[in-house]
Amino acid sequence: MKVLASAPGKVILCGEHAVVFSEPAIVMAINKRAFVSAELRSDNAVYISSTDLNLSGCFTEEAFKSEVKESEAAAKLRPIWVAVKKTLELSNKNLGVNVFVHSVIPPSIGLGSSAAVAVATVAAVGRATGIRVSKKEICSVAHEAEKVVHGQPSGIDTSISTYGGVIAFRRDEGFVPLKTHTRISIIIGNTKIERSTGDLVRHVRKLRELYPNVINLLIHAIGHVSVMAAEALRKGNLSQLGNLMNINHGLLVAIGVSNENLDRLVAVAREAGALGAKLTGAGGGGCMIALTTSGKAKLIAKAISEAGGDSMIIRGSAGGVRTWVA
Ligand code: MEV
Repeated sequence: MKVLASAPGKVILCGEHAVVFSEPAIVMAINKRAFVSAELRSDNAVYISSTDLNLSGCFTEEAFKSEVKESEAAAKLRPIWVAVKKTLELSNKNLGVNVFVHSVIPPSIGLGSSAAVAVATVAAVGRATGIRVSKKEICSVAHEAEKVVHGQPSGIDTSISTYGGVIAFRRDEGFVPLKTHTRISIIIGNTKIERSTGDLVRHVRKLRELYPNVINLLIHAIGHVSVMAAEALRKGNLSQLGNLMNINHGLLVAIGVSNENLDRLVAVAREAGALGAKLTGAGGGGCMIALTTSGKAKLIAKAISEAGGDSMIIRGSAGGVRTWVA
């Protein structure tokens, strides 16, 4: 039996980085997804093929084997293998599986690509083994897998990818879904600069150790922004949400995770009439987002493109992980 699963990427509307230090954050699932198919094998090996990475290989207890680019394949496929292995452990059987991954979420630009791949992998492999894996388990196994590979992520990416929609998330406490009464239109601007989330999280940690009295206040202020942004979303008050996003960007600049390219795209989006604009995700490159009413979306997307970014218009939020049998 071949099982397929898909899971969405995300944009953080408010609260990135502060969420690592247990402040609340707001995140929305987007209609760019990772797709994974899984089929049991007759032995206990794990074969993984990723069309996006253009890499494949077979993991056994003893070794990793690939026909081409073996060391690159071993390193880049390892996160997927960890997710597969942790899921197979749930079944308490000595199983092997073939896994095919295809993601339309560009990697390393803050849109939650690795979490979406991990979540879809756990869901597909879990169902292929014949055990019932709840969303709670999918989320927690994917989070454990992400931890092995990415250090100490807050869990926000795996949560939104599992549950979809728009959620207010707090590390160690979980999340609440946010009902929004207004259709949200977001333009994503991609600086096309890839970066490592782990490095940026470490940078903030370091700054916090050096200047705890200042950085803790900024982190706490970002938490307040998220609380107020959740309220603005609930009320459908987009101009207030936009103001809060602008404040959030300023605070992210202060903790040193923005850069010239992000600041330029944020500025042109505001000039073109965005209600608010900020970097999204870890920063240091990657993407920014702009909030708008749908009438202005194309104009803002054009301004972002003219300033050198790749733009994409997202309307509304996307559903979470789902599986089906081929
Ligand atoms: C990454 O999408 C968001 C960060 O806050 C890191 C995390 O929450 O794990 C930068």
